[in-house]
Amino acid sequence: MLSKKEKLFAAVEALGGLVCPTCGRPVSRRGDSLVCPNSHCLNVNRRGTLNVLSEARQEDYRSDLFEARSRVFAAGFFDPVAEAIETLLTEKDHRLLDAGCGEGWYLNRLLTVHPDWTGAGVDISRDAIRLASDQPCTALWCVADLRRLPFADGTFTAVLDILTPAGYDEFSRVLTPDGLLIKVYPGSEYLKEIRVTRGLPLYAEGEVETYLRAKARVVSECHIHQETAITPELWCDLIRMTPMNRDLTEEKLHALDKVPAPAVTVDLHVAAAVPE
Ligand SMILES: C[S@@+](CC[C@H](N)C(=O)[O-])C[C@H]1O[C@@H](n2cnc3c(N)ncnc32)[C@H](O)[C@@H]1O
Ligand SMILES: [Zn+2]
Repeated sequence: MLSKKEKLFAAVEALGGLVCPTCGRPVSRRGDSLVCPNSHCLNVNRRGTLNVLSEARQEDYRSDLFEARSRVFAAGFFDPVAEAIETLLTEKDHRLLDAGCGEGWYLNRLLTVHPDWTGAGVDISRDAIRLASDQPCTALWCVADLRRLPFADGTFTAVLDILTPAGYDEFSRVLTPDGLLIKVYPGSEYLKEIRVTRGLPLYAEGEVETYLRAKARVVSECHIHQETAITPELWCDLIRMTPMNRDLTEEKLHALDKVPAPAVTVDLHVAAAVPE
C-alpha cells in the first residue's frame, strides 16, 4: 500500500495542473518536494498534504466539528446528496476539484466508486485537510483558499462546491471550457429542527440561487427534501457540525443535547452549471 506521501505524488502526477503558488509555473517532483522551474519549493508534509497559504488564517472550523461531521456522514445522512451528484456528473473520465472539501467525504466517495477518476480537495482549514488525508482514496489534499487556487487554467472537468462559499471566477478559470460546476446549497427547511429548537427563523432561501444564476448557466438540477430519523447521539453530532451553531458556548450546546429531535430534515438543492 502506498504511503500518504506517495499517494499525494501519485495524485499530483495523475491530475496534472498543480502550479507554484508564488510564480504560477508548473511544479514537478524533486525527492520529497515539489519544485517549480524558479526553484520555489512546495513542501509535502508527512501526512501527504500541501499547504499553499502563506499567512495564518482564522479557522472557524475545528477538528472536533469535523469529527462530529464524519459520524454524521457515516450514518448515511448525506448519501442522497452524493447520489444526486453522481447522477449529474456525466459518464466520462473526470478530474474533480472539491472546493471547500471539509474532511473529504464526497471526493473520497466519488473517487472510490470511479477509481479511474482523479481529484483534488482544497480547504482553508488545516484541520479539515488533516482529516481528509485519512480518506482511503488517492487524492491531492491541499490547504488553500478557493478564491486563489494553485492550479493551471482548465485543469478540472468538474468542480464541487458543496455548502461552501463560491468563487465563480476562479472556478471558471480552473474548469475546462465544457466543465461543470456542481453547486449544493440549502433549501429553507435544511436542518429546520435545529432552528426551531433554537427559536431561529427558517433559512432565508434566494440569495445563493440568485447569485448562482447570475454567474452560471444551470443545465440540470434536483432538489432533495428528506426527513431522516436520528438517534440522540447523532443529534449531538448534528448540532455541533453545523456552522449555524458556531455562536453557541459549550454550555448552550449541552442544553441543546438534552432536547433531541427524533428526525431531521435534509433540504438541499443540487445544481450542475456552466460558469459564464
Ligand atoms: C459547511 S463546510 C462544507 C464542507 C464540505 N463541502 C461538505 O459539504 O462536507 C464549509 C467548508 O468550506 C471551507 N471554506 C470556507 N471558506 C473557504 C475558502 N475561502 N477557501 C477554501 N475553503 C473554505 C471551510 O473550512 C469548510 O470546510
Ligand atoms: Zn515558483
